[in-house]
Amino acid sequence: MRIVENVAEMRRLAEAWRAEGEKIAFVPTMGFLHEGHLSLLRTARGLGTKSVISIFVNPAQFAPTEDFASYPRDLRRDLDLSAKIGTDIAFTPSAEQMYPEGFQTCVEVGRVTKNLCGASRPIFFRGVATVVTKLFNAVKPHAAVFGQKDFQQLVTIRRMVKDLNMDVEIVGHPIVREEDGLAMSSRNTYLTPDERPIALRLSRSLELARQLVNAGQKDAGAILKAVSDRISEGGGAVIDYARLCNTETIEDVEIVDGPTLLALAVWVGKTRLIDNCVLGGEP
Ligand code: PAF
Repeated sequence: MRIVENVAEMRRLAEAWRAEGEKIAFVPTMGFLHEGHLSLLRTARGLGTKSVISIFVNPAQFAPTEDFASYPRDLRRDLDLSAKIGTDIAFTPSAEQMYPEGFQTCVEVGRVTKNLCGASRPIFFRGVATVVTKLFNAVKPHAAVFGQKDFQQLVTIRRMVKDLNMDVEIVGHPIVREEDGLAMSSRNTYLTPDERPIALRLSRSLELARQLVNAGQKDAGAILKAVSDRISEGGGAVIDYARLCNTETIEDVEIVDGPTLLALAVWVGKTRLIDNCVLGGEP
């Protein structure tokens, strides 16, 4: 696996591949890889003839009060794991490479970014859309794979690609979970042993919502009350949001009568966890 730190070199290699008729599949990450990322990388290997991972903890998507400085990092291990999967290039630019002196251009996606994480983290999606655009310009992928754990991020990227006529196929990948149901996340390492059982309430409450919908419950208020009660029971969890939304517009719905996103963000101690599922059929 080749390690590329420089934007110009990444572009040169991508252009050469394209000229040779290779198909480039890309997985953007912030590193500290877990099994979820590895399955995105495996999917990328199957999608293209060349696969690229980027590892870049993007300062632009963290508010000053958030965990940019303490975000877990282990580049050596990430490179080993990516190489084992058969990834062709690891693109690991520095912040100076990505945001050189004088940088002042951002990509802002509209309504789909306003609810859920966009409401709690107002600069988050601007940071994500901007860095993903820049990464696409460097890696020049034919296809890019994003996890569905960040469902709103996936919808935002799809919207951006469509709105800006970007020539990249966006592929969503199902959430990868630990054996106990906890959605995999680099931030799970923040959880203490005492917090771990509390964190499991997210996936358990999604399961409860699924049972309610299967039993005929359609009322969003009733479903969200049951979900919130399940998460709050026993204390130790603070709900940032629990919402039922249209899977394309990410606007709240009152009635579940078709594929509907149930999205959760919950603080367990100092860790903000997100999880989701689609109720009422496939999106
Ligand atoms: O999902 C992530 O890890 C990040 O938001 C992404 C897409 C790599 C952009 O920094």
